[in-house]
Amino acid sequence: MNRSAPGAIVVLGPDEVSKALGKSIASISSLELCEPSYKRFPDGEQYLRLTCDVSRRHVIVVKTFMPDQDSSALFALLAADAAKEANAESVTLVAPYLAYARQDRAFLSGEPVSVRALLRALWAAGYSRLVTVEVHKPDSLKEFPGTAYNVRPYPLMVDSIGLRSSKDLVVLSPDLGALERAKILAEHLGVGYDYLEKLRDRYTGQVSVKPKSLDVNGKHVIIVDDIISTGSTVVTAINELRRAGATGFDVIVAHALLAEGAEERLRSAGVSAIYAANTTPLRGSIVHQINVAPAIVNGLRSLGIIH
Ligand code: R5P
Repeated sequence: MNRSAPGAIVVLGPDEVSKALGKSIASISSLELCEPSYKRFPDGEQYLRLTCDVSRRHVIVVKTFMPDQDSSALFALLAADAAKEANAESVTLVAPYLAYARQDRAFLSGEPVSVRALLRALWAAGYSRLVTVEVHKPDSLKEFPGTAYNVRPYPLMVDSIGLRSSKDLVVLSPDLGALERAKILAEHLGVGYDYLEKLRDRYTGQVSVKPKSLDVNGKHVIIVDDIISTGSTVVTAINELRRAGATGFDVIVAHALLAEGAEERLRSAGVSAIYAANTTPLRGSIVHQINVAPAIVNGLRSLGIIH
């Protein structure tokens, strides 16, 4: 049986994804739950009130940043402020999906480093610790002035799916930036891994994959990425790999955002199943979600919030 640090309490975000994950985290760690009262004013502004006593307690706010990203971020800011106002000992944010993480530098002059702006705002609101699941680039968490932990969900995910090592299996990331993801997953399975070179036109958003000399002929490929949004990255990878002789595919991502038209695009490319963490709302019938709360709990333990 896990014991919580004295006084730790989980505050649930108002959406179903945050509630489910928060309850799961609390149940695994034997933590008390607090569901704030929450409403929207007629003009759309958010209101919340912590109805539990959080004074001198370690408060863990669970709020995924979907949907929608902007109100989720604002809810997180309000929750931290409410906890500090109520004399919380510390406030930790569990943001299973951290939005704005892909804008981790100013690609064009005049752009913000959005993730930096968000992380600094969260810290300023009162969060001293942050746990997130597979942020786009873990390095960007250095912009958080407190302590941050990036949960790598893939080993837990492949174990839950029941994927086993085989000589015909290879793990592939759609670009060099995601190679670490392929490495973690491949080493867990004991199979080979590689990446495809990807170019994204910053003006049109068009993605192209440069041919790479991968020996995927006759192989079953696990494609791993942090996010599926429009699906075009995965579809481009599959088309390229199929041309190179790959015989089958599994798609594993941390966050299946599935923007408008993505499911249709993926189905047309022959994708019948996507395995994703339960960090965002379940969209489309081809997505199978895996509960990553146990991996988040490990992250909270690493930060010393719970034992
Ligand atoms: C980009 O660098 C990310 O790692 C993902 O590959 C990308 O966000 C996926 O987006 P989409 O599904 O729209 O291609």
